[in-house]
Amino acid sequence: MYKTFAALAAATALTATAAFAQDLPKEVKARQGQFQIMAINLGILGGIAKGAIEYDAATAQAAADSLVGISMVNPAPLWVEGTDEMSIEGTRAKAEIWDNLDDVVAKWNAFGEAAKVMQAAAGEGPEAIGPALGTIGGTCKACHDAYRAPQS
Ligand code: HEC
Repeated sequence: MYKTFAALAAATALTATAAFAQDLPKEVKARQGQFQIMAINLGILGGIAKGAIEYDAATAQAAADSLVGISMVNPAPLWVEGTDEMSIEGTRAKAEIWDNLDDVVAKWNAFGEAAKVMQAAAGEGPEAIGPALGTIGGTCKACHDAYRAPQS
């Protein structure tokens, strides 16, 4: 146990030394990775709704459950001040986020609520997925329109 921990600590230290100054802060990487997980799972549900992916209750449920799981991650630690697109390279987070944190959280929670609707629908067959998908997509768009800068 102790040996394993020591080895892990040594590996961590090595990575830290090797990191370059222009590397993105871990909070930015984490939130971008979190959005990628959301997009991947939404893509699975979208593929099922379009008929491009064959419906399978377990696959659909796992995708919906993953969206709900992500929605339960507290977003606050990922939105560190000074990590907006005006301050650092490699992010599309608009500075407006930090002037409207209550609204950002409300939009995050709206995504979470929509994900729960999908969680209840996903096992009910492919027809049930379409409407729930539209609702989730609307919550992604609402936040992107307000707080995500266009791709440069
Ligand atoms: C509460 C606001 C909010 C919600 C809700 C939201 N997004 Fe985003 N999203 C952002 C912001 C802000 C960024 C830019 C993050 C950055 O670059 O630091 C982003 C970035 C992304 C990215 C790019 C990640 C990368 O690798 O740079 C993807 C993909 C994405 N969102 C997908 C989604 C999907 C799919 C949903 C809905 C299921 C969603 N987002 C819901 C605010 C939101």
